[in-house]
Amino acid sequence: MREAEVRRESGRDCGAMDIITTQGLTKAYGATRVVDGLDLRVPQGSVFGFLGPNGSGKSTTMKMLLSLVRPTNGSIEVLGTPMGRGNGDGDRGTRRRVLGRIGSLIEAPSVYPHLTGNENMRIQQMILGLTEAQVRRALEIVRLDTAGQKLVKQYSLGMKQRLGIAMAIAHQPELLILDEPTNGLDPAGIEEIRELLLELAGEGVTIMVSSHQLAEIERMIDTLAVIDHGRLMFQGTKAELFQQATPDLLITTDAGVVRRRDVPADATPYVVTELVRAGARIHEVRREQQTLEDIFIELTGRGGAL
Ligand SMILES: Nc1ncnc2c1ncn2[C@@H]1O[C@H](COP(=O)(O)OP(=O)(O)O)[C@@H](O)[C@H]1O
Ligand SMILES: [Mg+2]
Repeated sequence: MREAEVRRESGRDCGAMDIITTQGLTKAYGATRVVDGLDLRVPQGSVFGFLGPNGSGKSTTMKMLLSLVRPTNGSIEVLGTPMGRGNGDGDRGTRRRVLGRIGSLIEAPSVYPHLTGNENMRIQQMILGLTEAQVRRALEIVRLDTAGQKLVKQYSLGMKQRLGIAMAIAHQPELLILDEPTNGLDPAGIEEIRELLLELAGEGVTIMVSSHQLAEIERMIDTLAVIDHGRLMFQGTKAELFQQATPDLLITTDAGVVRRRDVPADATPYVVTELVRAGARIHEVRREQQTLEDIFIELTGRGGAL
């Protein structure tokens, strides 16, 4: 088994290092803190979901990680390197070196619609000094090797996203930061992105992927952070998210099913006794795990799509 696979299977508690850490990361526009004291930890080798409703600060955070937006406060460490905020040669040189090891796609991919996919890749090749093999490999991974001849304006949204990802991964980065790559895609397009990300993760690339819709990325991520109004509401593995929620208590009586949330296991007898005292005839008592969607709605206090 390759090292990356061992890391993925053994989880993040086995001395795997964090590839991104932020401390108190804050961005204020005027008096409003759109990112507010974020302490993020993205484990190496993870597919890390960055979730939050629209306007919760996901893009701003990712832009700060990529030095596209300057933090108001707090610190960022990427790939084991503290990212200084200064404009001196030292800090700028450090940022350039680290950014060279990251691939990113923020908001819509910047591609030329009147050129073909291949021609767009050629431009990226010149900018980044990529080899022929790197260009070919990137197009193969995103399954655009044959569609590369087509004009990008004739691409579907999913194809455009995949071209954007090809441009982001061609220089073989260790870390990939993707902002809402599934936004607007149909289920088949989302599935393509999922397979692509899992393939890259299998090669040891750490992936941070944002979305405002949990359902879109739930099956591709292993670890996640949920933010709301720029603040961290949860961070951990998907399993830990489930564990933190007590399964609902469901009691079937003559009158129907009673559902109670957040009843600890040792309180079950009291709830049952109380119902019996109130005259209910009980047929069944069971527990039901909340869906991830329910847990999210509780975390962010917002219904439906995050
Ligand atoms: N340059 C800016 N100036 C002022 N407000 C901004 C700027 N960029 C983003 N915002 C505000 O910051 C908040 C978070 O935005 P954003 O990071 O884009 O959220 P998300 O990506 O989660 O939808 C929003 O309320 C947005 O309007
Ligand atoms: Mg955004």
